Amino acid sequence: MENFSVFNPVHVHFGKGVIGELAETVQTYGKKVLLMYGGGSVKKNGSYQDVMIQLEIANAQVFEFAGIKSNPVISDVQKAITLGVENQVDMIVALGGGSVIDSAKIVSVCIPDNLDPWEVMKSIVQPIKEIPLIAILTLAATGTEMNAAAVIQNPDTQEKNGFVHPLMYPKHSFLDPVYTFSVSPEYTAYGIVDLIAHTFEAFFAKGDAPLADRFIQSIVLETMRYANLVLKEPDNYEYRANILWQSTCALNGITSYGRATSGDWGVHNIGHTLSFLYDTPHGASLSIVYPAWLRLQQKRIPDRIMHLAKLLFNTNSFDDFLLKLKSFFKQIKAPVSLAEIGIGKDKSQEIIDLLNKNKASGLYHKLSNDDHQTLVSYML
Ligand code: NZQ
Ligand code: ZN
Repeated sequence: MENFSVFNPVHVHFGKGVIGELAETVQTYGKKVLLMYGGGSVKKNGSYQDVMIQLEIANAQVFEFAGIKSNPVISDVQKAITLGVENQVDMIVALGGGSVIDSAKIVSVCIPDNLDPWEVMKSIVQPIKEIPLIAILTLAATGTEMNAAAVIQNPDTQEKNGFVHPLMYPKHSFLDPVYTFSVSPEYTAYGIVDLIAHTFEAFFAKGDAPLADRFIQSIVLETMRYANLVLKEPDNYEYRANILWQSTCALNGITSYGRATSGDWGVHNIGHTLSFLYDTPHGASLSIVYPAWLRLQQKRIPDRIMHLAKLLFNTNSFDDFLLKLKSFFKQIKAPVSLAEIGIGKDKSQEIIDLLNKNKASGLYHKLSNDDHQTLVSYML
């Protein structure tokens, strides 16, 4: 086991109707609320209306920032900071998926000193204060609701960058599975891939952590059990509730206690480059990269890979493991090749160039320029 440090201060409210506790929560932090959300799904599924009722009960003054896009961009984060600073808001309520909540995390640490969000993302300036962030999640995927990470794109620097800071834990996260009923089959599948990918990243981080390995086994097996059920019956509360809690647990720390870092993150870094170039949904990028990465690492870390194969599919054959993993992704209609998302061989060099430029790599399993080339050839 590696040394590790545990800190997770998020107050999680999980279940049907928990939004009823929002008014009381808001009142503990003040009156002025910056309400952030995305492109409009929240108005269709009723969550926006529920939140507005609670904000009215709390007698809050609401400043709305709508339009955070999937694969969020730094310019929107900057605009939300400006709105928050101008109106001296007391807190942020972020309603949506990972893109909205990640953007709100950066806004929350930039508002107090009017910091430049990209300088924060690149660790050029360190935030020292935050305004409270209350997250209301509508999509099971990222785990952002119970961690301190945010991922934002910057078109100017051609990066999709991750940043982690303890001030960015939401103070409260409201997780009502009913709000996830309306998530499309595509994004439901991408969320499932993402949560599995988070456990894999943890599994391949440095350090022996057998208990954490067992958490990973349980999360993935339960997710695979519920995946097809939820896709067949998207309005089934139990199915949505299980997937939602699995996604939270996949990246709230428990899969990495005993390891040196929360994950290797090599596959995510490759995936972020695809998302940056082609606006590929995050989960879709991961179902394409993981099989390729496992093939690349097959001879380098055979014992570790075969341990995962045994835990998940009770197989001693790498080919069988890869086949079963890809079959699962295909079954839920997540892509396993670039071709399936309309990216042809002619784009190979463009992808390799940006991977090289951004030095896309893992924290533990380092990736060279040659590896980038091999990975792209495996993804075609
Ligand atoms: O914009 P709206 O209209 O709200 O639509 C969204 C968006 O189009 C829609 N959606 C969300 N909830 C819905 C819904 N549609 C119907 N019903 C609902 N209840 O779904 C689309 C995708 O939303 P998005 O927030 O982008 O998805 P997700 O939650 O997967 O977040 C992805 C982002 O999180 C980052 C990713 O890189 C990506 O930018 N990640 C954040 C992490 C973290 N903070 O720990 C870790 C992850 O590895 C990941 O990197
Ligand atoms: Zn992810």
